[in-house]
Amino acid sequence: MDRYAVFGNPVGHSKSPQIHRWFAKKTHQELEYSAQLVELGQFEQSAKAFFDAGGLGLNITVPFKQDAFAFADSLTERARRAGAVNTLARQPDDSILGDNTDGYGLVIDIRDHLTWSIKAQSVLILGAGGAVRGVLAPVFAEEPQKIVIANRTGAKAINLAREFADLGKITGCGYEQLQEQTRPFDLVINGTSLSLSGEIPPIPPALLTSETCAYDMVYASEPTAFMAWAKELGCQTSDGLGMLAGQAAESFFVWRGVRPEISALIKTLRGEL
Ligand code: ATR
Repeated sequence: MDRYAVFGNPVGHSKSPQIHRWFAKKTHQELEYSAQLVELGQFEQSAKAFFDAGGLGLNITVPFKQDAFAFADSLTERARRAGAVNTLARQPDDSILGDNTDGYGLVIDIRDHLTWSIKAQSVLILGAGGAVRGVLAPVFAEEPQKIVIANRTGAKAINLAREFADLGKITGCGYEQLQEQTRPFDLVINGTSLSLSGEIPPIPPALLTSETCAYDMVYASEPTAFMAWAKELGCQTSDGLGMLAGQAAESFFVWRGVRPEISALIKTLRGEL
């Protein structure tokens, strides 16, 4: 049987086994998918053992995405840009390809599932950590009009914008400098970890209107603080559950060459939150 797994620590909470078994069933593919708890410092030897034993692909979650980046024999451009790998795939020559599908998962959710546009839109991204770095190249591939990254530590946003400036129009700043923005944004993506503690980034409310779509990269059973705030300003809102489904669908495509549909899966996952 074709074997896949997710490596993480902790990994018990991971929805990946359920999601990939769902995709396999829906696309009539025979495969096994398990969750494996990997001890800290043991990533390389565990991954090697998995592939040596004939495993075909891995998903990688916290805290091993950088280890997986180092482990891969080759990288896709989006993984290189993300500086992290969430998908390892055995190639026909037995080398291991490292990919990162997190950003494209966000794009699949926004563009295909929510049917909000990114093309030609002004995009504000909040946060400048690993989660934001991971989505910039796939968002740019959708040809937004411009991207502004705002972060508590403004210097991190400025450096990140510099690093991605070859892909399109992008600037970075601290939250205070957002006062200088003269027009509301079409799409605002919260990539900070603040929602997990029920807080919202301090951004001027005038930057969001009833024309703005507001996306939170985290998900929860209730609307996040950021979503509740954006909704009060009249925005359409979404949490990141569809991004989770989208990144899994894209990993499945990398491994199996088939793109599963995610809408029904999101409904099921939502019902279980
Ligand atoms: P991740 O992998 O989730 O992106 P990270 O790399 O640690 O995690 O990044 C966390 C992000 O949330 C950063 O943008 C961080 O801002 P700083 O770069 O200024 O630290 C942001 N963040 C975390 N706690 C925050 C807080 N209390 N207020 C504002 N931003 C916060």
